[in-house]
Amino acid sequence: MAANKKLLFLPGDGIGPEVMGQVRRVIDWMDQRRHVSFDMEEDLVGGCAIDAHNTSLTDATLDTAMNVDAVLLGAVGGPKWDNVARDIRPEAGLLRLRKDMDLFANLRPATCLPAMSDASSLREELVSGLDIMIVRESTGGAYFGEPKMIEDLPGGGQRAVDTQVYTTPEIERVCRVGFELAGKRGGMLHSVEKANVMETGVLWRQVATEIGKEYPDIDLHHMYADNCAMQLVRAPKQFDVIVTDNLFGDILSDCAAMLTGSLGMLPSATLSGADESGRQRAMYEPVHGSAPDIAGEDKANPLASILSFAMTLRYSFDMAEDADLIDQAVTNVLARGLRTGDIMQDGKELVSCTRMGEALCEELDKLAA
Ligand code: IPM
Ligand code: MG
Repeated sequence: MAANKKLLFLPGDGIGPEVMGQVRRVIDWMDQRRHVSFDMEEDLVGGCAIDAHNTSLTDATLDTAMNVDAVLLGAVGGPKWDNVARDIRPEAGLLRLRKDMDLFANLRPATCLPAMSDASSLREELVSGLDIMIVRESTGGAYFGEPKMIEDLPGGGQRAVDTQVYTTPEIERVCRVGFELAGKRGGMLHSVEKANVMETGVLWRQVATEIGKEYPDIDLHHMYADNCAMQLVRAPKQFDVIVTDNLFGDILSDCAAMLTGSLGMLPSATLSGADESGRQRAMYEPVHGSAPDIAGEDKANPLASILSFAMTLRYSFDMAEDADLIDQAVTNVLARGLRTGDIMQDGKELVSCTRMGEALCEELDKLAA
């Protein structure tokens, strides 16, 4: 089959390299068993890039990222870089990738896998079967709005400014992603903002309503962000797809992630629009961070990264069948009772990151047999 699928690996910091090592194992499996090969390049992002180049993302790396079919990122950051200049901090590299690649739609699924439904901090009946997709706008809003600064006040003290700003086209394009996904799922979309307080919320609601007219079959609801946070912990199964801005999306996606009882298991995709030739840029990464406390100990959970690779197959390469295979292997490996430390439960078998990756490939073998 075609070998023109170009991937850029950016393992990053902390547990990033370990979990991405297990993604490589799955890619090798695909190569051998499914005859799908990928051209892979690897580069630095985050703290390791600061150590090597004094910047968390070099222009050269960004240039490579722009020209591959998909970027697979591990995690960035750690205490070692807590005191570096703000403009080169590890997170800046990640934000620059999102912004400069115009990856405006951040898809964050929160699914509760059957084997994990008793691991949530909520009662099992509230979360079993949970399947939410959060679409977070990721190139605008308070993260990038100008002015953004801290200035000295004449009488002493300082004044800090972040600017929450959205234009009609920015809201339109991310809402469309929300409606399209809702159409492929349960047919319901919650558009979330603070129209009661914020001008950006007023515009957001207006634009979502307008775009909604193009999707008469989708059941559109508007919800204030604070109420959404409350509803997520009260009755999360009322949601199908949620579309929201950058800052609310950051917060609500962490909240939704925790409902599943396993932050270490959640993948994400961040996508651009398609250009004239139909090409779409994309970056895939686990929702969890770099976990410096366990880095290098072979204890991390590689499943979020592996599920992010499944999203790569689904969204960048139109390989739904192979993506389903990986999703099913994850379900099976958990059903077999294997657990990394972060999701350990009574009576289950504690395994290392490496062992989890191997066991996942054993499940893939069985499924493909
Ligand atoms: C996330 C993270 C990032 C964000 C940080 C690391 C900059 O929290 O991807 O949710 O705030 O977007
Ligand atoms: Mg976050």
